[in-house]
Amino acid sequence: MCGIVGYIGTNDSKEILLKGLEKLEYRGYDSAGIAVLNEDGVKVFKEKGRIADLRNIVDESVLASVGIGHTRWATHGIPSTTNAHPHQSTTERFTLVHNGVIENYEHLKEDYLSDVAFRSETDTEVIVQLVEKFVNEGLSVQEAFQKTLKLLEGSYAIALLDREDKDVIYVAKNKSPLLVGLGEGFNVVASDAMAMLQVTKQFVEIMDKEMVIVTRDEVTIYTLDGEKVERKPFIAQIDASDIEKGTYPHYMIKEIEEQPAVIRKIIQEYRNDNGELTIDPTIIEAVQEADRIYIIAAGTSYHAGLVGKELLEKVANIPTEVHVASEFGYNMPLLSKKPLFIFISQSGETADSRAVLVRVKELGYKTLTITNVPGSTLSREADYTLLLHAGPEIAVASTKAYTAQIAVLAILAEVTAKSKDVVTDYQLDVAHELGIIAQAMDELCDAKDEFEQIARDYLAFTRNCFFIGRALDYAVVQEAALKLKEISYIQAEGFAGGELKHGTIALIEDGTPVIVISTQKNVNLSIRGNAKEVLARGANVCIVSMKGLEMNGDRYVIPEVHELLTPLISVVPMQYIAYYAALHRGCDVDKPRNLAKSVTVE
Ligand code: F6R
Repeated sequence: MCGIVGYIGTNDSKEILLKGLEKLEYRGYDSAGIAVLNEDGVKVFKEKGRIADLRNIVDESVLASVGIGHTRWATHGIPSTTNAHPHQSTTERFTLVHNGVIENYEHLKEDYLSDVAFRSETDTEVIVQLVEKFVNEGLSVQEAFQKTLKLLEGSYAIALLDREDKDVIYVAKNKSPLLVGLGEGFNVVASDAMAMLQVTKQFVEIMDKEMVIVTRDEVTIYTLDGEKVERKPFIAQIDASDIEKGTYPHYMIKEIEEQPAVIRKIIQEYRNDNGELTIDPTIIEAVQEADRIYIIAAGTSYHAGLVGKELLEKVANIPTEVHVASEFGYNMPLLSKKPLFIFISQSGETADSRAVLVRVKELGYKTLTITNVPGSTLSREADYTLLLHAGPEIAVASTKAYTAQIAVLAILAEVTAKSKDVVTDYQLDVAHELGIIAQAMDELCDAKDEFEQIARDYLAFTRNCFFIGRALDYAVVQEAALKLKEISYIQAEGFAGGELKHGTIALIEDGTPVIVISTQKNVNLSIRGNAKEVLARGANVCIVSMKGLEMNGDRYVIPEVHELLTPLISVVPMQYIAYYAALHRGCDVDKPRNLAKSVTVE
């Protein structure tokens, strides 16, 4: 969701900014822009649509060694060239890009800017106009910026240019991600290290309510009260090649096919020298001490949480609830006496989850984040972090992060169970089982042509599709439906097999596709009964079952794996089916409409 880049150095900035914005495309956006500054003043180029559209309007002949850029995901005001960033103050002295939402922008307009003619519908324009107002009243630019920041309520990552000073970019952050990258004779600004890996791997984290003065040779961080802050840089542990598509046509299929390697990497990362799975004992202690675990997440991560609940309850014997972050934040249930909160988030930046984290920390509860992004907001702010080690996930539709989340939750459940000598009906040797799973995933990747054919046979012309499953398969069908709808725009629903007949079965017509997952022995017969119910009403039924449970007529049989870990396998055909359905319908698989990778607004 919205991305920011900035460059101040000696080279021409345009290409660095545009390449940086291309690397942020995965976050989701509907317009983009850059502003560059040289002795002739500021030039702003902005356009609705893709970075490729922006490239077409950028004047190649303008050379400037300072610039800022932005991808916008509309919140206040429609996607349009006018609402696209950068935004400028009335005299065009100040030019600004902003990621986040200024909650009090209407009050600020009324209280300070009633005489200003605004050009856009955005909340952002208020910021740049306030800076100009305070400078006109006699403050230095730094003082005016600081005063403005103190007035803002909400979330922001900001980069600001002053036409009168080509040697500085003013930067600030609150709740929205922002990093400053360091180079020799240049410095950069980015929402995400990926955007600037092209020029540096060395970054400095910026904390909430900090203001940064970035010049070619220096980066100076201040609190909003003007105190200097010293902070050591870190080296981003991402390889530029990790974020390239390589020979794959889309990131999504690359990431689907990285899953066996990710599972193997997770085993390796969580194994000690004796070959045993291990997790920081302070985390295990926190899990053991909890009388109930509350998993908080959104979207695909929530679906991984549904599987995590089964693992934590069945293997580690700890009662576990799973909640959608955006609901929990506003409607908290009655909590147990000693809860532990687990936040599952690929990006570690989801605003809905963060809002819950802030609230439960205020209440004094322990928090653990399971994330793919070290140093992300949720990771920094929780008491503990477990990493997914899945490598950057660029496609908007999450695939490898989902399976990595389940694998890490399985390890957490097993290590907790072993360390408190829990004996349940489910003894798991997770490292061994994950090895089997990686192998099975390889087999599924080799069978992708079959899944392409399923997509053609069932989804080529339909406007809707149902996925049904029971028990653990019910968790997976919810994820399968989300994958399909978000990238192919087919209306899809994941249902508990037994629930259809309580109303939804009314929607089944001749030819309605119903995809059935059956990997759980105790419900194999009952889900097949549900499949018969829809078949009798004309549905086009496709059954994906597991070896050992298969029956005549099943469309695909996945390899056999441990019954508690089947979601790791059964989801793979569903990811492929969604991918091919979207592809055949001519959809933009990696960048589906209206969606953002990192959802940084509540
Ligand atoms: C769907 C998808 C989203 C995310 C959700 C939470 O494919 O990617 O549903 O899972 O926005 O994001 P994270 O996991 O970054 O908190």
